Amino acid sequence: MQQATVRKAVFPVAGLGTRFLPATKASPKEMLPVVDKPLIQYAVEEAYAAGIRHMIFVTGRSKRAIEDHFDTAYELESELEAAGKQELLALVRSIQPDDMDCAYVRQPRSLGLGHAVLCAEALVGDEPFAVLLADDLMVGKPGGPGVLAQMTEAFAKQGRSLLAVQEVPPEQTRRYGIVSGVAAGGPLLRIDQIVEKPAPEVAPSRMGVAGRYVLTPRIFEEIRNQPRGVGGEIQLTDAIARLMAHEVVYAYQYEGKRYDCGSKEGFLEATVELALQHPQVGAQFREYLKGLVV
Ligand code: G1P
Repeated sequence: MQQATVRKAVFPVAGLGTRFLPATKASPKEMLPVVDKPLIQYAVEEAYAAGIRHMIFVTGRSKRAIEDHFDTAYELESELEAAGKQELLALVRSIQPDDMDCAYVRQPRSLGLGHAVLCAEALVGDEPFAVLLADDLMVGKPGGPGVLAQMTEAFAKQGRSLLAVQEVPPEQTRRYGIVSGVAAGGPLLRIDQIVEKPAPEVAPSRMGVAGRYVLTPRIFEEIRNQPRGVGGEIQLTDAIARLMAHEVVYAYQYEGKRYDCGSKEGFLEATVELALQHPQVGAQFREYLKGLVV
């Protein structure tokens, strides 16, 4: 029987981040901070909170800052220690807890999200795994579990691939994978169709895929055997459509909020909303906003 626990998470981080130029000319887009934490750290923390301890980054040229971020920073740590700055030292060390390991594999060419996931195959092996796109900053309901934790819990019960979805405005169907399906109990929809970035006129629904997936390992075979799709890329969405011929795939209507930090608008919304909740700066920032004339 297939393993029901998701132990590994894949983070495709090789993308060029052209939508955020010039900020991303020499720095990875995943290192852009929302308040005081880089986007990739939010995603890794979400996976860790879902019980995952093996983090796999599919990386590329000029992405070294990500590896450094999840590694020991000897100079910084010894300086903080010498200066007696214990709180900051603990903060820096908490980025990579002792029971978490990180592995890195290169995606040598920009051939799409499906291809990036395929690059992780040898590190994932024959077991279910999560995929997290750090561009999508996901926040669970206050006090509730994170979005990936909701999905791994659902996976433990039914063992089928799951895609996080939320309704998107009609004019935004072109930005996302869009699914349609039938209600399958609680937050689940059994997917009958999935299309990558359709125009609103042909979109099968308005259910947009957010960047959180739990996938069974059969997906690798489907990615390997598929032709290129939209934009000449090897799309994960197309591989999921092929997977549906062999296995049930569910859409999971998560509880929480997605900030599409791949767009400037979404990034700004995340910055403002997370700053308002921040324990150090939240109260002061709220006062500042109240005084703004807009
Ligand atoms: C990718 C996927 C798309 C999904 C989206 C979520 O697109 O291809 O299906 O809806 O992530 O953020 P990208 O944002 O990489 O263009």
